[in-house]
Amino acid sequence: MRVGVVLGTGHGEKGTTGMVVDALIVRMRERVEIEVDVICTDDLVLGPSCPACLACMTAGEQACPNADNASPARELMDAADLVIFATAVHSFTLSATMKRFVDHFAYLIHRPRYFGTPAILVSTAAGAGHDAALGYLTTAIRRWGFHTAGQLGVNGPGLAKAPYRAKVDRALDELAATAVRAVHDGGEPAPTTSDLIGFRVARLLVESGRSDGPVDAAYWDERGWFEADWFTGAKVGRVRNAVAALVERRIRTGIENGSAKPYTG
Ligand SMILES: Cc1cc2nc3c(=O)[nH]c(=O)nc-3n(C[C@H](O)[C@H](O)[C@H](O)COP(=O)(O)O)c2cc1C
Repeated sequence: MRVGVVLGTGHGEKGTTGMVVDALIVRMRERVEIEVDVICTDDLVLGPSCPACLACMTAGEQACPNADNASPARELMDAADLVIFATAVHSFTLSATMKRFVDHFAYLIHRPRYFGTPAILVSTAAGAGHDAALGYLTTAIRRWGFHTAGQLGVNGPGLAKAPYRAKVDRALDELAATAVRAVHDGGEPAPTTSDLIGFRVARLLVESGRSDGPVDAAYWDERGWFEADWFTGAKVGRVRNAVAALVERRIRTGIENGSAKPYTG
């Protein structure tokens, strides 16, 4: 089994997040033989923020000025049977370099490729912010095709207390078993209503960008996605699909008539 680790912390493998991921990998190795590839998002030279040229969408990912520097991360994800995305919590969400990593791969929202590959999400914090960090990561990587098989948020300072440490150890045991099972069982979970809405929104984006560049639309044409309800052959629930279709119609009408309301919370 090949496991890719994306580590979103300036403290690298020796920091708290790295240590929690290591403890998870030790437990996975007790169950199965694994090869592990690790990249730290702080080591990827992607620049301070995405240049926002959209060349990745219109001309292809290789047209990004940072494509070469990001290629180890892309290769890690392409080769993995399972990816562990792990981040330190910074200011109640993921770290800046983890977000930068996610932004680099925004083209995967238009051209997702990781269906059937499970992901495990890990965050560490002093005490708060796991919900936002892990919630965001769940949504972001789902748009690339991954599905989250399990997640764990750990408070670093708490590890010094034996009762908390014992609970974390138990959670790591369970997470390791979940991770190994997710790869062995394979398959793709049935798409949720939110997934189906995501599919339709991506289709809308790709359709409306057809005139800006052929890359996204060609990817969808090749896969027959313009005529589909979902990216894979996974069973699409009728009610969920009807709800997603309704949301799509509303979005389309809002765009066409300018009747969409600005967001006010
Ligand atoms: C800039 C910064 C912001 C942080 N923000 C939070 C936070 O919002 N909530 C929290 O509980 N801990 C916060 N922390 C603490 C880290 O999340 C925590 O120490 C984490 O385990 C560090 O992991 P690492 O050693 O892998 O980098 C912050 C740390 C830094 C450096």
